[in-house]
Amino acid sequence: MTEKTIMFRDERNLSPAIPAVLETPTGLLGDALARPLHDLRISVTDRCNFRCVYCMPKEVFDKDYAYLPHSSLLSFEEITRLATLFVAHGVEKIRLTGGEPLLRKNLERLVGMLAALRTPGGRPLDLTLTTNGSLLAKKAQALKDAGLNRVTVSLDALDDATFRRMNDVDFSVSDVLNGIEAAHKAGLGPIKVNMVVKAGMNDQEILPMARHFKGTPYILRFIEYMDVGASNGWNMREVIPSAEVVRRISAEMPLVSLDANYTGETAARWRYADGSGEIGVISSVTQAFCKDCSRARLSTEGKLYTCLFATRGSDLRALMREGRSDAEISTAIAHLWRARTDRYSETRTINTEGLVQGERKVEMSYIGG
Ligand code: GTP
Ligand code: 5AD
Ligand code: SF4
Ligand code: SF4
Repeated sequence: MTEKTIMFRDERNLSPAIPAVLETPTGLLGDALARPLHDLRISVTDRCNFRCVYCMPKEVFDKDYAYLPHSSLLSFEEITRLATLFVAHGVEKIRLTGGEPLLRKNLERLVGMLAALRTPGGRPLDLTLTTNGSLLAKKAQALKDAGLNRVTVSLDALDDATFRRMNDVDFSVSDVLNGIEAAHKAGLGPIKVNMVVKAGMNDQEILPMARHFKGTPYILRFIEYMDVGASNGWNMREVIPSAEVVRRISAEMPLVSLDANYTGETAARWRYADGSGEIGVISSVTQAFCKDCSRARLSTEGKLYTCLFATRGSDLRALMREGRSDAEISTAIAHLWRARTDRYSETRTINTEGLVQGERKVEMSYIGG
């Protein structure tokens, strides 16, 4: 044990002093509410070629928007170094996100580096990626060859006009469907399809989407529109509760509830009573799932966030670039996780109204969802 301490220089970091003690990689690191560290979501770019109205509205993310400069981004080597430390602490699943992760050049190289990691027990990770699908047809095979296990693709409507209104860059449904098919052919399954439901915008697409994906190998998930970031002008009136989504689908295509695949899963699972597949509903607004949340998030520039709705992150990039050892950074991660008390979705009203003045929640495109 040493007397050295790490002080985060980032003014947005709440953590005071962190003693530099090497943690043993037990895989049992728990936060203040006894939640393990199981998932790491890594954002590899804050840019996107879509302008989804609920995520990167054009009025805010216009040509003058200040994206991160290239020098701010973690390099693939830095990402892999941090991922290795997280895996030693018990992370078994890594999800690459953005912005749009496939915009990051040579992403396959990073996938290859992460695919080589092993858990302390010697198992490979669950390595996956969430994408808008626009570049998937081109990249699916290379990603698979590099070691990616599976992908999740966002698609908010089957109707072209509705989808174009939602992505706001005139991208067509058929291009995304082609991407999904290419990913399927490449073996990147089970493939999930994410549909964010925004009342008055695409809720009329719930049934067409359910009918389209019923009986396919794809798992369609309906996501309640969330108050992420500070740009999307979120309003509770635009949220369709998942219970209503399930009611609408079940009225035509009966559904039976399923157990979760794992503790802390975002989606509640349902299967069609006739055996033709499953759907999921992600109800962060009406049925929060913070109780078992085991997800850490690494931003594009290397800040660690312990909640999707956080206003502050801890600068791990600074530690790497000032020459800290693996042991010191590993200890910093352990301390940050141990101190974690986040449960934003469970206390949403208080949080939404109670943000300290001048503080902004981080944007989805920066933290990766
Ligand atoms: P699977 O591993 O396939 O179950 O994926 P996932 O649901 O964890 O990840 P995905 O990127 O597909 O996210 C689906 C939706 O859940 C998105 O809208 C995310 O923003 C949201 N989401 C993911 N993790 C969390 C979380 O910890 N809290 C909240 N509130 N939403 C989350
Ligand atoms: N509410 C719910 N889901 C969102 N996503 C992006 N913004 C929001 C929001 N405000 C979804 C994307 C993608 C996933 C990572 O998060 O559609 O599927
Ligand atoms: Fe891009 Fe995904 Fe945000 Fe849409 S939801 S703007 S595709 S990052
Ligand atoms: Fe986890 Fe925060 Fe989402 Fe709750 S709101 S599930 S703590 S990321």
